Amino acid sequence: MMVLRVVFVVAVVVGVVSGAAVCSDCDGPEPVDVVTYYESMCPFSRKFLTTQLYPTMKLLPDNVMNVTIVPYGFAHEKEENGKWVMYNCQHGPSECVGNVIAACVLNMTSYESREYMPMINCMEVNTRHGHQMEALSKCALATNMSEPEILTCYNSTEGSQLHYQMGQITHAGHIHYVPHINVNGQHSKVIQYNAYNHLLEVVCQLYKGPEPAACKARQQATLVG
Ligand SMILES: *[C@@H]1O[C@H](CO)[C@@H](O)[C@H](O)[C@H]1NC(C)=O
Ligand SMILES: *[C@@H]1O[C@H](CO)[C@@H](O)[C@H](O)[C@H]1NC(C)=O
Ligand SMILES: *[C@@H]1O[C@H](CO)[C@@H](O)[C@H](O)[C@H]1NC(C)=O
Ligand SMILES: *[C@@H]1O[C@H](CO)[C@@H](O)[C@H](O)[C@H]1NC(C)=O
Repeated sequence: MMVLRVVFVVAVVVGVVSGAAVCSDCDGPEPVDVVTYYESMCPFSRKFLTTQLYPTMKLLPDNVMNVTIVPYGFAHEKEENGKWVMYNCQHGPSECVGNVIAACVLNMTSYESREYMPMINCMEVNTRHGHQMEALSKCALATNMSEPEILTCYNSTEGSQLHYQMGQITHAGHIHYVPHINVNGQHSKVIQYNAYNHLLEVVCQLYKGPEPAACKARQQATLVG
């Protein structure tokens, strides 16, 4: 009798523990997808990346928000001797430079937003008046990326090829303005407006998993304020 009870208790405990351990993450809720098409020198892109996207990303873990950025916008390219050359960007030549640097940075970080966003954010903060190369030195140092590696990419056909790829993705996205923000694959004026102005709120409302600390905190802030 006593032995049976012990066996039963052990079985229950083991069952619960292994049940929890088997799948803590794999079956969890999907992160909220946030895709941003932008141009490096567009003031509205700059504002969104530096005051919404990057700060929100820093507040939320990766399993809550999945960030993708596509630097290109309304650039124009042409093929010259078998390679793509940019000849016109909406905000002038320094925008083309900024877009290619961004495309190189994305590639060098295997398109991992956690890895590339500190650099992208730093570039956006420091290029209000252009001066992309000065910003590149400063930001590479600040975010521990290799400036020579970025310059090598920027200066080679690889850079224009990577930027060309961003162009292909952008054309497929059928955008009419930048930044253009898709949330969970959806886009509308309301989604754009809310994401552009209150990204944390948008992600907190859509996320189906346990409420992240930053979402709780923002509710308390709302109640207090
Ligand atoms: C993150 O977003 C990208 C691009 O939209 C998508 O390909 C990828 O599957 C997403 N990752 C997760 C974990 O949802
Ligand atoms: C980076 O770009 C190079 C050259 O285009 C390519 O071979 C490589 O696969 C890219 N890396 C990633 C992570 O996509
Ligand atoms: C900077 O990057 C190098 C090479 O990628 C790495 O070895 C080093 O640990 C990094 N330093 C910091 C402070 O992250
Ligand atoms: C980039 O290429 C140009 C010529 O196309 C050259 O003048 C410049 O020094 C190169 N810069 C770097 C960092 O390789």
